[in-house]
Amino acid sequence: MEKKKILVTGGAGYIGSHTVVELHEAGYEPVIIDNFSNSKESALDGITAITGQQFRCYRVDCTNAAAMREVFEQEPGLEGVIHFAAYKAVGESVEKPLEYYHNNVGSLVALLQVMREFNVTNLVFSSSCTVYGIPENLPVTEQTPVQKANSPYGNTKKICEEILSDVAQSASTLRSIALRYFNPIGAHPSAKIGELPLGVPNNLVPFITQTAAGIREQLTIFGEDYDTADGTCVRDYVHVVDLAKAHVTAVERLLEAKGDKIEFFNVGTGSGNTVLEAVQAFERATGVKVNYKVGPRRAGDVPKIYADVTKATEVLGFRTNSTLEEAMKSAWDWQLSLQDSVTNV
Ligand code: UFG
Repeated sequence: MEKKKILVTGGAGYIGSHTVVELHEAGYEPVIIDNFSNSKESALDGITAITGQQFRCYRVDCTNAAAMREVFEQEPGLEGVIHFAAYKAVGESVEKPLEYYHNNVGSLVALLQVMREFNVTNLVFSSSCTVYGIPENLPVTEQTPVQKANSPYGNTKKICEEILSDVAQSASTLRSIALRYFNPIGAHPSAKIGELPLGVPNNLVPFITQTAAGIREQLTIFGEDYDTADGTCVRDYVHVVDLAKAHVTAVERLLEAKGDKIEFFNVGTGSGNTVLEAVQAFERATGVKVNYKVGPRRAGDVPKIYADVTKATEVLGFRTNSTLEEAMKSAWDWQLSLQDSVTNV
């Protein structure tokens, strides 16, 4: 039987590459688009090493509708699109708001226009728990009110969700699922793909692994005076492979034409851990100590957020298959596999 073809924008990126692998495992044919602005072609080699397949990859910027159109022409019969391609650094978005609006909002609009032209009607969109702002009640469900974003990056996710909702209200045949990610961490168990931050990592786990590897001298924990068990921020750390699988089940749901024209799902584990607990879990999982100090709070950090994942569990069959320690171990194995490489320093 012919495999169903799914276009994955940002397919060479962190979550994208893991999702390409899971799509293949589930019997789909992924086709990748990436402009490699925040990813490396080596991710494609990693995908090939895991799957034994070389998937077609187009070096295209998703804001370029004409170039996107060419991809759709060359790839007839696309059944759906998973749209990862976006900028994602909160701090950078404050410095470069126009770049973030152009890239993140512009690429979604261009993609939706081209999808409409080619009558491709299924879309999974990468959203974020950032849309909940600082929530009043925890855990957050999909009914938790969306709040004013506290960064241009966060606002692009909120605006993109609104665009999808507006399209769903119209006569459009588009069906979409927005997955609101909590904090994706870890790497594929093969250690052939993983997070590949360019330059100094913004996110906690790559900073931990690079510090443990001696690439960074010291991790700074941003604040220990929050109203949490040990004073450090609480997050919901979800293994990237579990998250990748949620995209596959979301695609399946769209292809079966189940549910409303637009649906939102939280994807986390359902439990929160403090930053200090995350560091300790890494140390326990790997036996490697992390040199850290406590510094001041980071501007814009949400003190505490974790997901209620009942909806994803019941509707998408979402499961958390690994513990925080296992996720940390996989991140460390990936870091070790990069040891000879200077590209991530
Ligand atoms: N942290 C440190 N030291 C570091 C890096 C992070 O203490 O060097 C702390 C942060 O203060 C935070 C936690 O580790 O408490 C997690 O920080 P990350 O930067 O890894 O992740 P965030 O929770 O800030 O950001 C994530 C996504 C964003 C998304 C945001 C929404 O990366 O895309 O959640 O809350 F917008």
